[in-house]
Amino acid sequence: MTPERNRLREAFLLLASLWRLIRGQDQRGRKVRWMIGLLRPYRGRVALMFVAMLLATGAGLAPPYLAGQVVDAGIVAGDIGALDLIVAAFVVVAILYAGATYLQTYLVGWVGTRALQDLRERIFAHLQSMSIGFFTRRSTGVLISRMTNDIEALNQLVTSGVVTMFSSTLTLVGVVAIMLVLDLKLALVTFLTFPLLAVASVVFRIVSHGAYRATRERIAAVTAYLQETLSGVRVVRSFGQEPRHATAMTELNAANREANMKTVYLNASYFPAVELLAAVGTAVILLYGGVQAIDGAIQIGVIIAFVGYLQVFFDPIQQLSQLYTTYQQGMAALDKIFDLLDTEPDMVDAPDAIDPGTLRGEIEMEGVYFAYADDALERERRGKRVEWALRDIDLRVPPGQTLALVGATGAGKSTFAKLVARFYDPQLGRVSIDGHDLRGVAQQALRRQLGIVPQEGFLFSGSVRENIAFGRPEAPLEEIEATAAAVGATAFIAALPEGIETEIGERGVQLSAGQRQLVAFARALLAEPRILILDEATSNVDVRTEKTIERGLERLLAGRTAIVIAHRLSTIRRAGKIVVLEGGRIAEAGTHDELIEVGGPYSRLHGAWADSSAA
Ligand SMILES: Nc1ncnc2c1ncn2[C@@H]1O[C@H](COP(=O)(O)OP(=O)(O)O)[C@@H](O)[C@H]1O
Ligand SMILES: [Mg+2]
Repeated sequence: MTPERNRLREAFLLLASLWRLIRGQDQRGRKVRWMIGLLRPYRGRVALMFVAMLLATGAGLAPPYLAGQVVDAGIVAGDIGALDLIVAAFVVVAILYAGATYLQTYLVGWVGTRALQDLRERIFAHLQSMSIGFFTRRSTGVLISRMTNDIEALNQLVTSGVVTMFSSTLTLVGVVAIMLVLDLKLALVTFLTFPLLAVASVVFRIVSHGAYRATRERIAAVTAYLQETLSGVRVVRSFGQEPRHATAMTELNAANREANMKTVYLNASYFPAVELLAAVGTAVILLYGGVQAIDGAIQIGVIIAFVGYLQVFFDPIQQLSQLYTTYQQGMAALDKIFDLLDTEPDMVDAPDAIDPGTLRGEIEMEGVYFAYADDALERERRGKRVEWALRDIDLRVPPGQTLALVGATGAGKSTFAKLVARFYDPQLGRVSIDGHDLRGVAQQALRRQLGIVPQEGFLFSGSVRENIAFGRPEAPLEEIEATAAAVGATAFIAALPEGIETEIGERGVQLSAGQRQLVAFARALLAEPRILILDEATSNVDVRTEKTIERGLERLLAGRTAIVIAHRLSTIRRAGKIVVLEGGRIAEAGTHDELIEVGGPYSRLHGAWADSSAA
């Protein structure tokens, strides 16, 4: 029983657990096999990388032995020929080592970056296929973290982690074997220091794992707090809450510093401790080996080789203890990434989904019930309360008609529009366009013909022109300008430093909410939609601009079906049909004149509007 076995068990345990994972005897097996599958397209290079690694490891083991030989076979024996030969071998080995290490590092990087790119593309493609509901439920920050931090952690594991594991293990085994062959007794004496090293490494590993996790959690807390307070800076300012935030930030920061100091302390202790142990090992070799050499029982070169191997031995130990952290982080990242990839896109096109061709624009809802909770029906069956955002909606909008939706905030107006755009499917009933149930229509084919202007128009970085032409990048400039004119955006665009080519967003000028709406408006119109959805699209523009938009609208709405959700009266009055929503239900429907005549909810809303605009 040699003591180094204990030492090596560590590394082998890690290997064994990985092997179990690969063989699928672990719940993570599937994920790890998948991860290794990422390397499959590059297996030729991976194989080459392993060859390079074997060469580098082998070449790395030779120098101490050769140095010993220089002394024994060359200097002590007084043999110049042997000396030259061994030194030549030394140089060759060094060159081989350099070449193989270069190749190994290059290939690891090559395969790693490719695999990383593939993985990112896969996740991005997966994200693109997810429904709008998914993005509403998940925080953007978390999704971005998956694409960056977690992929990076996984990359570390797949590339440098794997390399470290194999090359360090091989080096350890190699050093132990060579030492035993060179001098059994001196080897066994040297190994006496290893259990100490093993204990130090294991303790360090366990303690530092907890410490590093604490630092990650603390910094995440700082980031999250920062993100929130920066986003909400206007609210913070207006309520004068800066001092409270400063205090909270100080606390989080202090906690972060403390966690970091713990790792500093650990690193400050561990690495010198390892060095010290190495020195103890060297002292043991020098003392015991020296006594043996004086007795003539051992050659001087062997002692020199041993001192060299001891140095070689300690590096992989440190790397392997680091590997544990890489492994933990990589595995945690793998779990999180799988959590994402395992979320099936909930609204994929059916295999027999049809392309309805150019739409006439007839919209119909039959017995539609919709709630934002996926399990709404299930809950209702179990007698639990369900917040239906829309209930029992029956409605037909003939082609070319403008439907105005009115109702209090939270009545379900936006939800109605989202169902027409099929951002969601209803739990009950059906939404159809031109008689096709939307569930059977190819989503791309449908949305290409929809123009949606949301309440908060989103602008991408790029020029105003690019933003307007977002849905039709090939549109000619004259057409883009004409569309901008139709929505009354010409004046503000002309006032921008570079007109329609002005960059907007982070690196360019900032537009006001109203200006953003105008751009979004023009964007929707330029796409020549068959169905236009305006969700409070004019809520942020002034009355005069709204008048311009309305004039443009009249022309643009001609021959299109439109759903208009508007704050102000004038847009609504001219609609072919007005629907009043109350708590997700249709309270009443009809033309302006009809509804005023009836004297129901609409006439009351109308009265309130008339009062407020008179004021
Ligand atoms: N993404 C969402 N997740 C959960 N509930 C939502 C979501 N969006 C809206 N709701 C809820 O659905 C109801 C209708 O909202 P919405 O259609 O936006 O009303 P409106 O546009 O008429 O103001 C409200 O009770 C609202 O709280
Ligand atoms: Mg709304």
